[in-house]
Amino acid sequence: MDTSWKIMVVGAGTMGHGIAQCVAMAGFNVRIVDQFPGVLDKAKVLVKEHLEGMVREGRIDAELAEASFGRMEFHDDLEASATWADFVFEAVFEDLQVKRELFHRLGALTRPDVVLASNTSSFDIAKLCDVTQHPERVIGMHWFHPPQITPCIEVIPAGATSAETVETAKVIAEAVRKYPTACANSPGFVANRIQFAMAAEALAIVEEGLATPEEVDRIVTSSFGFRLSAFGPFEIADQAGIDVYLSIFKYLHEMLGRGQFAPPPLLEKMVQDGKLGLKSGAGFYNYGDGAADALRRTRDKRLFDRLALFRAERMDGSD
Ligand SMILES: NC(=O)c1ccc[n+]([C@@H]2O[C@H](COP(=O)([O-])OP(=O)(O)OC[C@H]3O[C@@H](n4cnc5c(N)ncnc54)[C@H](O)[C@@H]3O)[C@@H](O)[C@H]2O)c1
Repeated sequence: MDTSWKIMVVGAGTMGHGIAQCVAMAGFNVRIVDQFPGVLDKAKVLVKEHLEGMVREGRIDAELAEASFGRMEFHDDLEASATWADFVFEAVFEDLQVKRELFHRLGALTRPDVVLASNTSSFDIAKLCDVTQHPERVIGMHWFHPPQITPCIEVIPAGATSAETVETAKVIAEAVRKYPTACANSPGFVANRIQFAMAAEALAIVEEGLATPEEVDRIVTSSFGFRLSAFGPFEIADQAGIDVYLSIFKYLHEMLGRGQFAPPPLLEKMVQDGKLGLKSGAGFYNYGDGAADALRRTRDKRLFDRLALFRAERMDGSD
């Protein structure tokens, strides 16, 4: 993509300064705007320190660090930056009223073709379209902390969002070396809905006195959490066996009596149809034509690579 696009990031807090750094590292000129000059000063220091740390650790060379920092401007003038921008990332407080007021202003200040992408973690994107002139250019682009590192961006169109805006959001996400995936505009989108379901159970286990936070963290990071950066939940279910999953759901539901463990009809149907995952040749994915053997090899490679890292970080104390 053309890196001559000028990118504005509104909000220089936890997320905004990292998003701006990531965009600058990809070759774009960035203006990061905040209402508080003190926040901008702090953001400048954090970005500089982060880039210097990357150079020290040999992740990037000094030239890239210097050039990236040189492409960043820190501003408290929203109006001047809005007329300058070709694309806007919004990363202000998670407060719907604050975001609605900002989108109303941005809608009036920016060119009508400028995409306005919100980093909201939870709000309905339609509520931002409502208040914006030319709502077809409003979209959710949900980054994950720390944004300089974590690959995912959830791309969330609302009803009013145009196909062109979705395409631009994907292209720009890829241009900053992220891994975008479109998802529906519903509460928590995909990642936070799953993440908070897990957090609810982790908290319940601690509150019930079954394990300490440290024990939960040790178990999760060395078990399913260990696998999760290599495979998603449906890939893992296929590898474990859909019939095994169904039995566990039934037992948990019977013993704990909570709705979230009710055996999912989708799994019941798959078991009836003999789609048990990798072992039967089909599950959520198909494993014909040598795909099962290829997956076993990929699984082992990915997990052994992660095991070496895990042992170095957690067991051999080199972290
Ligand atoms: N913190 C996370 O882990 C995380 C992860 C993903 C998404 N998000 C989302 O990103 C957004 C920002 O979160 P954060 O953690 O960076 O918040 P933060 O509180 O650290 O930063 C928000 C910044 O926005 C500025 N701001 C507020 N209103 C403004 C306005 N009208 N104009 C200019 N600047 C304004 C504030 O001064 C502040 O510096 C939120 O929507 C949040 O839900 C956060």
